[in-house]
Amino acid sequence: MKHWRIEDVAWDRFDPSRVNPEILRLVKAASVVERNGLDYAVYLNNVFTDDPDFQGAADNWAVEEVQHGDALGRWGMLADPSWDYPAAFERYRTSYQIPLDVDASVRGSRTGELIARCMVEVGTSSFYTALAEATDEPVLKGICKQIAADEYRHFKLFYDHMHRYLKRERLGVLQRARIALGRVTESEDDELAYAYHCTNEPTGIAYDHKRCIAAYMSRAMGYYRRPHIDRAMGMMFKVIGFTPHGRVSRLASRFAYGAMRRRGRRFERVVAERPVVSAMPGPQAVAAE
Ligand SMILES: [Fe+2]
Ligand SMILES: [Fe+2]
Repeated sequence: MKHWRIEDVAWDRFDPSRVNPEILRLVKAASVVERNGLDYAVYLNNVFTDDPDFQGAADNWAVEEVQHGDALGRWGMLADPSWDYPAAFERYRTSYQIPLDVDASVRGSRTGELIARCMVEVGTSSFYTALAEATDEPVLKGICKQIAADEYRHFKLFYDHMHRYLKRERLGVLQRARIALGRVTESEDDELAYAYHCTNEPTGIAYDHKRCIAAYMSRAMGYYRRPHIDRAMGMMFKVIGFTPHGRVSRLASRFAYGAMRRRGRRFERVVAERPVVSAMPGPQAVAAE
């Protein structure tokens, strides 16, 4: 069911002289988050326990997410031969785990769960589009384009299922907006920050959420351009139930883009000011996505 395969990537076109070390840091962090997709499939199977159609779709989705991780991980090891993707993933998984033993969504309803899933795909499809445009390294550019296309298909998948559940559960626009915006702010929780720590910082350095989320976000936010935010806002408006490409969407996008630039600069200051301290543990248990 995959739309592309790792074996088909033109790995021999890899050009080490075009590796941007800042983008490499983001790729390493993203690889382990993507590889964690199988856990989310288990969680989704438990939430949608009597919906075999969706369960099958979630299983296929997870296979594609794992492939994203593996492709990014392989590229990360080409770009930095001293880096060990499988070891970094093990380190991540040891401390970051979502609760799988659930019988209902942490979002309060199945529609809410699907809204949150849509928002994750809004984020990933725009992120990989931005990275594909930012990098000059031909192999990474190709991988990011393929991943961005997958993420957009994932958005459509969850969006279609959301509409199916919306007919039954009838969440209003405000409830949908609250869940969608809530999921956007959660991107600054531990999932990405701890991934950055496990993939970019040596063992023996203490996990510092503030430093790590700033290190990740200050870089990631710098690659977004206005068209990426326009598109993401249109997708978010669709999920909430607003007109996706109207005047309000454009205004919201302008506001969001400005806010993101300011936040990115704040994160840059945190990175400059926050010391790296050697010591021990990471987060023990972290809430679901
Ligand atoms: Fe992905
Ligand atoms: Fe995805």
